[in-house]
Amino acid sequence: MKGAIFFSGKYGSTEQYSKWISEATGLPVFDIKDAGADPSQYDFLILGSSILYFKLTNRKWVKKNLAILTDRSKALFSVSGAGAGDKLNGWVANSLPTELLSRIEHFALSGKLDHSKVSWWVRLILQIGALFNPDPEASKDERYGFDYMDKSSIEPIVRLIEQLHTVIKSKNDG
Ligand SMILES: Cc1cc2nc3c(=O)[nH]c(=O)nc-3n(C[C@H](O)[C@H](O)[C@H](O)COP(=O)(O)O)c2cc1C
Repeated sequence: MKGAIFFSGKYGSTEQYSKWISEATGLPVFDIKDAGADPSQYDFLILGSSILYFKLTNRKWVKKNLAILTDRSKALFSVSGAGAGDKLNGWVANSLPTELLSRIEHFALSGKLDHSKVSWWVRLILQIGALFNPDPEASKDERYGFDYMDKSSIEPIVRLIEQLHTVIKSKNDG
């Protein structure tokens, strides 16, 4: 029985969290865009996805691979500007099928937005979004960027993976 991390991100923060989780647990990491990324080769999966424009970026891949992912997926970590809460939970619920979401644990990790790394038109969209964002903190983040990356926030995910490994080991031993 073996596990793997399958992530989807655009600007590097979801990849960074995936690598930190991999270093802490020994699980291999795959970008869902890689040709060789095949979730059917693994018994359990940790899914990681950034949130862009109020949606998880892995949603199309999840729908396409739902039959493979539903039983195997044990956790989803989202990476976003918004912190844990109803707003984020709503975006996650709107992005993924209920039959998958009801089986997995969701961990909300905070990401990073560096305006110098996005194209001029994305910067423009963010500036316009900031003007209309009713939440003053979120508006400031959209306008100026932010860095909320926190390595220690992976700890609950690492603990979950360790528990899965313990269960697998006891099944194999017994
Ligand atoms: C174009 C764009 C749209 C974004 N939309 C949202 C959003 O709707 N909600 C949110 O909380 N964060 C949003 N963010 C912040 C990203 O979730 C954050 O930058 C995250 O770390 C990106 O992950 P990645 O580096 O793996 O792509 C957005 C960022 C960009 C660049």
